[in-house]
Amino acid sequence: MAQVKSTGQKRIGVLTSGGDCAGLNAVLRAVVLRAAGHYGWQVVGIRNGTAGLLARPVEAEMLGLSPDLLDGTLQRRGGTILGTTNKGNPFDYEMPDGSRVNRVAEVIEGYRQLDLDALIGIGGDGSQAILRRLAQEAGIGLVTVPKTIDNDLGHTEMSIGYSTAVKVATDALDQLQPTAASHSRVMVLEVMGRDAGHIAIAAGIAGGADIILIPEIPYTMAGIAAKIESIRKRGRNFALAVVAEAVRTEEGEPVKQKQAAGAVNYGGIGHYLAARIAEETGAETRVTVLGHLQRGGMPTDRDRLMASIFGVRAVDLIAEGKFDRMVAWSGRQVVDIPIAEAIAGYKAVDLDGPLVHTAHGLGTYLGEFSP
Ligand code: F6P
Repeated sequence: MAQVKSTGQKRIGVLTSGGDCAGLNAVLRAVVLRAAGHYGWQVVGIRNGTAGLLARPVEAEMLGLSPDLLDGTLQRRGGTILGTTNKGNPFDYEMPDGSRVNRVAEVIEGYRQLDLDALIGIGGDGSQAILRRLAQEAGIGLVTVPKTIDNDLGHTEMSIGYSTAVKVATDALDQLQPTAASHSRVMVLEVMGRDAGHIAIAAGIAGGADIILIPEIPYTMAGIAAKIESIRKRGRNFALAVVAEAVRTEEGEPVKQKQAAGAVNYGGIGHYLAARIAEETGAETRVTVLGHLQRGGMPTDRDRLMASIFGVRAVDLIAEGKFDRMVAWSGRQVVDIPIAEAIAGYKAVDLDGPLVHTAHGLGTYLGEFSP
């Protein structure tokens, strides 16, 4: 990694931050091809998000990225070759003993030791907020690329990882349908998405779900039971239900699970619903919790395309000296917007939007709401 910059040559850093998803490697490939291949810059991959900048010597956590390393497989692979973490907030860093400390000065010092001219951060709203704070404190030229399977960044029509997550969830429904029909069962598929129902509604429509529950719309067990009864009356022996992880119990309680390492995540609403459906309708139910399969799949063509577009544009923004910007997809164009605006623009499922209208038009039970 310890390359020397030639006169006038730039050296940029790139990192992936927050939860991983499919398509991150495709962004890295595009960044390297544009920065090194086109502009002749050096590209330094920072491992494990900003946590990599805490290593000493800092070079130990760096990966020199050059076009020679790209063997034709990178854009096809899920995950991130740089590694990532959704626990490494340097403003509130959790130490091994559980204490929390501010390690910003160390991160900034690590960044300075690398002699970088700019940084590309690939992350969701939380990661981008942290990176922006760091950039402001340290005077770092920052450009960000939106990624999140949850698709909840409002100012971009596409975020890296979402398309693949929807495909994985749709494939799951395709595979659940025949077994549901063989056994005359109601299949409940629990999908991710954090507080938004984007994955659930998109996959639910594409996969022909009869019931789609999203956190944005309240539901009743009576409504679900009526839907299942109407399916039975029409002579169909099975039903498919998709539920987003943040959907609450009928009484409004969030359903969460404590992970071994202490983190508390959404999880369990699928089992709650399956039990309640069995109780209310007498149907035999089964549950599939799709979990992290939605993050690790081979990126779809759409995710690879957006990754390539965003990666190239992010590098071009640095070449143009435009910083504190996030690349975004809007109206069939790649655009760039202030990061502050991007992270303030959280977007849940639009109740007046085409997906809600479509699901309703298809006769899907979406909860107690009529568009
Ligand atoms: O934000 C992405 C996401 O996959 C959410 O959809 C999910 O709730 C969460 O991250 C899971 O986080 P972890 O990787 O910590 O289990």
